[in-house]
Amino acid sequence: MKIFVYENREILGKEAAKFIASAIRKNPKLVLGLITGETPLECYRELVRMCERDEVDFSQVKTFALDEYLELPSSHPYSCKSQLLETLLRYLNIPHKNMHFLDASSPNPASACQAYEEEIKRVGGIDLQLLGIGLNGHLGLNEPGSPFDSRTRIVELTETTKTYLARYFGERVPKKGMTMGLGTIMEAREILLMAHGQAKADIVAKALKGPVTTKVPASILQRHPACTVMLDKAAASRLP
Ligand code: F6R
Repeated sequence: MKIFVYENREILGKEAAKFIASAIRKNPKLVLGLITGETPLECYRELVRMCERDEVDFSQVKTFALDEYLELPSSHPYSCKSQLLETLLRYLNIPHKNMHFLDASSPNPASACQAYEEEIKRVGGIDLQLLGIGLNGHLGLNEPGSPFDSRTRIVELTETTKTYLARYFGERVPKKGMTMGLGTIMEAREILLMAHGQAKADIVAKALKGPVTTKVPASILQRHPACTVMLDKAAASRLP
């Protein structure tokens, strides 16, 4: 695991964007796993700027969203699909058919999860998976206790996650979600985990330097052969 610490979240975001752009230049058909939330916003803004300046070409890139909330229409402004379209995808030269989302509106979400796994396999697996970390150590919506070999599935959100998500959803916070499993995530050829801010310092230290345990889902990343971690100083402040 390679850990890089930057002065602030803006620099972190720019470096993360450079990392992704360089992966696309090496492999123009990159299969890229995307996250939502606060963590990637600066990185996504920089990727959009780079794409506008023709510094990176997304025309052959395929993307897969890491997770989605259930019980929400996909047009909801805070569905993962809407967030990804609005913060990144609609500004890139990426064909719509290359964008993949978990379908929360499916009449059979369990089989939609299975179909997602099959689609990931069909395109040859994820080359680069972006990740953020939840305050409880979750990856995607794999909450504490999620098995390390879990696959894409429906999950219940914990109180910690629901309290965090209230900033977006107010009183109508989703109780369930769909997420790639920890097993699915660990099969990505390369991983880029990002975290910023003091609030993440404790969980970052536990995940990166503590025991590998399902109580801290992100600790599994210690076993990934090609995981890069980008932190700002605040998020790195509790690392030994
Ligand atoms: C979102 C996702 C989540 C977030 C995590 C951190 O697609 O996978 O695991 O990465 O909850 O959220 P923020 O970035 O809002 O702190």
